[in-house]
Amino acid sequence: CGIAGCISKKRRVAPILLDSVRKLEYRGYDSVGIATVEENRYNNNKEYNIGLKKAKGQISKVVDKEWEKFDGNVGITHVRWATHGIPSNENSHPHTDCHNKVAIVHNGIINNFKELKNKLIDEGHEFKSETDSEVITHIIESYMEKGMNLESALVETVGHLDGTYAIGAISTNNPDEIVAVGRKSPLVIGIGDGENYLASDVPAFLKHTKKIMYPAYDEIVILTADNVVVKDLNGNVIEKEIIETNWNEDMAEKAGYDHFMLKEIHEQAITVENTLSVKEEIENIVKDLKSIKRICFVACGTSYHAALTGKYLFENYAHIPTDVILASEFGYSFNSLDEETLTIFISQSGETRDTIDAIEMAKEKSKTLAIVNVLGSQATRIADYVIYTQAGPEIGVAATKTYIGQLICIYLLAAFFSKHHLKDEVFANTLLRKINLIPKLIEKILENEDEIKDLSLKYKYPPNFFYLGRGLAYPTALEGALKLKEITYIHAEGYAAGELKHGPLALIDYCVPVVVLLPKGDSYKETMNNLSEVQSRGGDIIAFTSDVEDLSDQKAQDVFEIPNDLGEEFEELFAPLTYIIPLQLLSYYISIYRGLDPDHPKNLAKCVTVG
Ligand code: G6P
Repeated sequence: CGIAGCISKKRRVAPILLDSVRKLEYRGYDSVGIATVEENRYNNNKEYNIGLKKAKGQISKVVDKEWEKFDGNVGITHVRWATHGIPSNENSHPHTDCHNKVAIVHNGIINNFKELKNKLIDEGHEFKSETDSEVITHIIESYMEKGMNLESALVETVGHLDGTYAIGAISTNNPDEIVAVGRKSPLVIGIGDGENYLASDVPAFLKHTKKIMYPAYDEIVILTADNVVVKDLNGNVIEKEIIETNWNEDMAEKAGYDHFMLKEIHEQAITVENTLSVKEEIENIVKDLKSIKRICFVACGTSYHAALTGKYLFENYAHIPTDVILASEFGYSFNSLDEETLTIFISQSGETRDTIDAIEMAKEKSKTLAIVNVLGSQATRIADYVIYTQAGPEIGVAATKTYIGQLICIYLLAAFFSKHHLKDEVFANTLLRKINLIPKLIEKILENEDEIKDLSLKYKYPPNFFYLGRGLAYPTALEGALKLKEITYIHAEGYAAGELKHGPLALIDYCVPVVVLLPKGDSYKETMNNLSEVQSRGGDIIAFTSDVEDLSDQKAQDVFEIPNDLGEEFEELFAPLTYIIPLQLLSYYISIYRGLDPDHPKNLAKCVTVG
């Protein structure tokens, strides 16, 4: 889910809120809603009401001009990714209390909501939804009925909640403020001019300010139009650092592309270039980690595939034993970590619940390093060391440019570990020299986008795909398959090419296209053998390789050429950075030709802040 809020002394906030919530749509699109504090100007005694509108469905489908017209200079908004309660109008946020005096938006999960709800029902509260979140508004209401203001009532409410939350609350009793609090769910504050903001993520208010502040767990934030005050739960004011993001508004726009995903695929050359600029920082971190004898990568989704690539690089080129663990599984197998282990967390958002939980566990036992794209996000505040991928905001739900950014950081880490631990300057220097050629190579691959369009049209119907790769190309095969699943809803499996014969070969026939990644190098011959195994079972082969000639002898139905500008010796080493590009495009165009919306894949959210 995503939350946002705005308080202004100069204008109505509804248009600002709706713009913010559109920027957060990648966090969920089951439903949308806004609430503002409206003033009844026709009453001399200054009467206020909560204006509320919410609906099930995607923003573009349900929000019309009427929403923009909402009155009020104080408001909150929400996009939902349903956990408790189906997507419906009633379960949409904001949630109001029995007397429509309080409205809240919530991202997270309240674990003890059933007990709280039963108690509140016994006390006479009437619930309108099936969500866990609604209890928050009723608890606030019960404290305000005892005479407390919104701020004190929220402080008391937090004491009842077990779970994760980022909450924004408004009330007709305190019409000139928004009060917010967060615990383990992302909450960022934007400091403007006569206007202040809160949100789950920075792009929500990037149009208005670049000055941001991150409250810590359970710090209460009181936003007025001119001021932002942060207090601990005992009411002590806390001085917070204000940082300035280098992201700008345009980065969060489509810039003429049909979808964010396509724009972000095209931003990968520049992402590589920008991320290479943090080389020195990475070397300094590695110099500081002299005692490291083992690496343990932890991540989810696409970030996990970047981590798997790291295993091949670290073990082969830095000779450091490396494990890769899914963040959601980390809690079941982390006892062997020690002070000589470096646990590397990879996360685009820096907010994924499973990953954050894992960092907190790992911190007790090992050194921790987070590779993250979002400035100031939770992971960056917990880990001992942080490296930022320089991808700019990524809005498309399916990760593309941040994956490339993560890979660059991992390549640089491997090079510097090789240099400083293994004392292999030759490898490190060659890698650092050759990697500069990657942006050009990516551009070259993108020039052949039309070929991928043709392939996508040809292969838009099959219900099942396999993706095969060996060695460094294996994680790329997994990532290619994940991209296809995410945005086309086609069942796709990534497999280590050599493992196909141990089971999945039984599924291959003329209906199953098999994508084979064939970079020139140690794995080439063996993967060719696997390709023949597929071919003799009738599967259609779509090969990606630099050696088009070798494939031309009717070995594959379709061949896409990856330019071999790095020299044969290095093609395999850098294959993860180049072979993924056409696979991302293939998924994108198949999604388009199937009439789908690749930016909003069903049931998914970009940032999963629940465990
Ligand atoms: C979600 C997204 C994926 C992403 C994963 C990990 O599942 O849909 O695209 O790879 O989370 O996200 P992170 O922000 O931790 O990299």
